[in-house]
Amino acid sequence: MSKKRKITLTAALPYANGEIHIGHLVEYLQADFWTRFQKLRGHECLYFCADDTHGTPIMMRARQEGITPEELIERNHKQHVLDFTDFGVDFDNYFTTHSDINREFCSVLYEHIEKNGHADIRSINQTYCNHDNIFLPDRFVKGTCPNCKANNQYGDSCDSCGSTYAPSELIDPACSICGNTPTTKESEHIFFKLNDFKEYLTNWLPTHTPKETANKLMEWFDEDLKDWDISRDAPYFGFEIPGHPGKFFYVWLDAPVGYMASAKDWCDKNNRTFEEIWNADDRELYHFIGKDIVRFHCLFWPSILDNAGFKTPDQVFVHGFLTVNGEKMSKSKGTFINARTYLNHLDPLYLRFYYACKLNSSSDDIDLNFDDFIARVNSDLVGKITNLASRGAQMLNKHLEGRIGDLDEDGKALVDNARAKSEEIAAHYEARDFSKALVIIRDIADEANRYFDEKEPWKAIKADPESARPILSATLNLFRLIAIYLKPILPEYAEKTETLFNESAFNWQSAQTVITNHQIEKYEYLASRIDPKQVDKIIEETKHELAADKKIKTQPQQ
Ligand code: MSP
Ligand code: ZN
Repeated sequence: MSKKRKITLTAALPYANGEIHIGHLVEYLQADFWTRFQKLRGHECLYFCADDTHGTPIMMRARQEGITPEELIERNHKQHVLDFTDFGVDFDNYFTTHSDINREFCSVLYEHIEKNGHADIRSINQTYCNHDNIFLPDRFVKGTCPNCKANNQYGDSCDSCGSTYAPSELIDPACSICGNTPTTKESEHIFFKLNDFKEYLTNWLPTHTPKETANKLMEWFDEDLKDWDISRDAPYFGFEIPGHPGKFFYVWLDAPVGYMASAKDWCDKNNRTFEEIWNADDRELYHFIGKDIVRFHCLFWPSILDNAGFKTPDQVFVHGFLTVNGEKMSKSKGTFINARTYLNHLDPLYLRFYYACKLNSSSDDIDLNFDDFIARVNSDLVGKITNLASRGAQMLNKHLEGRIGDLDEDGKALVDNARAKSEEIAAHYEARDFSKALVIIRDIADEANRYFDEKEPWKAIKADPESARPILSATLNLFRLIAIYLKPILPEYAEKTETLFNESAFNWQSAQTVITNHQIEKYEYLASRIDPKQVDKIIEETKHELAADKKIKTQPQQ
């Protein structure tokens, strides 16, 4: 096999004030598939993430619940870790941005911003609530849209007509915390002069981000790039800016730094150096993100890293958004489904399989259609794939002492053909075209089923059991290859297959062996059909959560 690669990758840090939902999982699962694939290929691949813990919404949420922000983020950290673990998302480290390591990296990056003259300090006017004594982010001001006059719109944009404006332009603005009319107040802010990096980004974007992302961002490059406000006034849950008492880093400044902090924390615990895991020339560094946060990852982030002499990502991989039954996820329709709600009713295996069927390397949205979800799982994963194992193994155990023998000609040809697909499937995994990998895997299963049905081993086994052995042996070998190829997506399923075949852990190379003269174990449950009633229960439970949510005063999301 090729040279051992050294890869560090991250997924975006979920906000610490919310629950993990099935939209998030589009990202955490695809990065997990990719990491597991790289590990099976024998490469070093480290998958880092953390909670994004700072900012006004988290501070306000804690206030509302009558706890400290630290208590809030600790509670949610535990829940996030549980949710990810139960979905089989295998982070090498799941850290937090609220940590000294993160604070130190932020200081270093900021010192370089100031030192190299990329900080500008000036006063601005901002919406302020005299009752709550805080500056209000746009989302914390509500009022009537100045354009279409729709009520109850946020301070930055109108959901009804889509226009954008400043909070000061709202008619009858109100603080969304206390309902009083806000005023404006002047204060000093620190700005990052993004335009200083225009030339750098002009070169960087086309080679390190997807074409559509680069093109979209470059639309702004005809004019000067706008300064980025990186400070917030106290009270703010975050890091105070060194040398600027009372000023805090805006959460989006310290959030991506959390990638580095998570990596460094892992290094400290595993006796490795940050230099080696992040900066080294032979290290590949990738970020998986959704299309809503490209501005932060593809403009500010590489500029800030490069300015401080750190390695910038080799690629930023951008995915689209999840829709459910063709529409935006919605609490009231019961489709804004939390990871935990799903887990209360269904095996995570199904969603992992379905997302893999849908995912490719583009940033197009992907749709979870429940009918299609049930059909794909029941017909492909259970009907086509799992049945090969359950029928083949049970027959072999019952009539032929569970011993795999030699294959017949036809069976051997099919197995050789399936083995020869290994590199083609690997190339699709490498390119994050999971759906294409699955098309090939499904084709192998189709051929195996055709073979099994043609050879009718259930008849042979009655007349002359020994004549069925080659057929069952070939069928089980085909199933074994499928389970190896599916291992990045369905790791537990593959592990159960290892047990069935009495083998040590599969890696990608395992697909090169054919097993003959080999004792198998008793067939244990691998997967069963989805009962549509379980999906209905998930939707019902999600609707109930909405009703419960409404009882506590609603809070704007970040
Ligand atoms: N906290 C920021 C990211 C900071 S990274 C330094 C954030 N958090 S988030 O919880 O809103 O989203 C985390 C990731 O999940 C983002 O990449 C986002 O695009 C992705 N998704 C959130 N909702 C999603 C869908 N409905 N569908 C697909 N991905 C989604 O943004
Ligand atoms: Zn107020």
